[in-house]
Amino acid sequence: MSYSFAAGPARLPDAVLAQARETLFSRGADGAAPVERPFSAPQFRAVLAQAQSRLRALLCLPEGYRILFLAGGAMHQFAMVPANLATPGGTVAYADSGYWAQRAMAEAARQCRVSVVARHGGTQALAAPDLQDWHLPPDCAYCHITPNETAEGIAYPGLPAVGDVPLVADCTSCLLTAPLPITRFGLVYAGAQKNLGIAGLTVVIIQEALLARSPASLASVASYRLQAQADSCVNTPPVAALLVTAMVLDWISAQGGLPAMADANQRKAATLYQAIDASQGFYRAPVAPGHRSPVNVRFGCANTALDTVFAAEAEDAGLHHLRGHPRIGGMRASLYNAMPQAGVDALVGFMAHFQRRYG
Ligand SMILES: Cc1ncc(COP(=O)(O)O)c(C=O)c1O
Repeated sequence: MSYSFAAGPARLPDAVLAQARETLFSRGADGAAPVERPFSAPQFRAVLAQAQSRLRALLCLPEGYRILFLAGGAMHQFAMVPANLATPGGTVAYADSGYWAQRAMAEAARQCRVSVVARHGGTQALAAPDLQDWHLPPDCAYCHITPNETAEGIAYPGLPAVGDVPLVADCTSCLLTAPLPITRFGLVYAGAQKNLGIAGLTVVIIQEALLARSPASLASVASYRLQAQADSCVNTPPVAALLVTAMVLDWISAQGGLPAMADANQRKAATLYQAIDASQGFYRAPVAPGHRSPVNVRFGCANTALDTVFAAEAEDAGLHHLRGHPRIGGMRASLYNAMPQAGVDALVGFMAHFQRRYG
């Protein structure tokens, strides 16, 4: 058995992979396979509605929020969030928690004034920004955070207090991995290719009141307001990706929803972090306990020269894509919803074997 620990695009649940293989490309009585149907067809609209109601139920999303299924990656939202929510001449607040937060704020800075309200500890960040004392500028249109930094393997231990300022979160690597206090947020977005399906689709959950902010001059495909009015169908939506996401949402519901995802993810993460911490210093997990991501576990050999050997031998043992983010180095095991406990057990078994030979 081999396992991919890739950070994204990442493993799909086995059942979804099988269902997609069987159904997506098989023609029905109307002469069209699901990926061939027009997006105006009742069959596609039914899937869209079902995906929305499943996601709404999973997140316990109250009235007053809209769900958008948009084309493109999370980085499209790095541009769309300021384009829709920033006020002319106003300021937006960003917390610098690491690699993806920095990319989000760099994109926002192309459009408006960015105030950095919190910072992590440097390029070898060991912890999320301190949650105390965020001084938001008086004309702040929103405050943006990245609750789970995929590259550094850092997760916030809580949420900042931002008062009436809408809190915006890039939840690309953590949406649907655990229950989320959704009403604390004005907007949440996530690229699908980690926990929600395949690349090409990004989910945006937005407070209805914020839709009024989308400027009339904004391109219609990029306008949250117009996309909400058109039920995410201003133009052809990423049909295949949406069909897969609908299957993933059904799968998560059938497993017991977000509490079940959180339990399984905590168990997998505990297995791996405990193995690292019990290795008597042979392996190290550089992120501070309490800030360690349950879904992107960053680790390495204390003797960093062994990291390359580890990654190569792990591949030979069927444990793939364990190299860390190119800017960070070391190793990273992504343990999203679809990674079974057996995959983590196999990794921990390999780590013990490797340590016996090189320790
Ligand atoms: C937290 C986070 N934000 C944004 C992105 C960028 O996503 P995309 O490649 O879909 O634009 C990633 C990709 O890994 C990510 O992990």
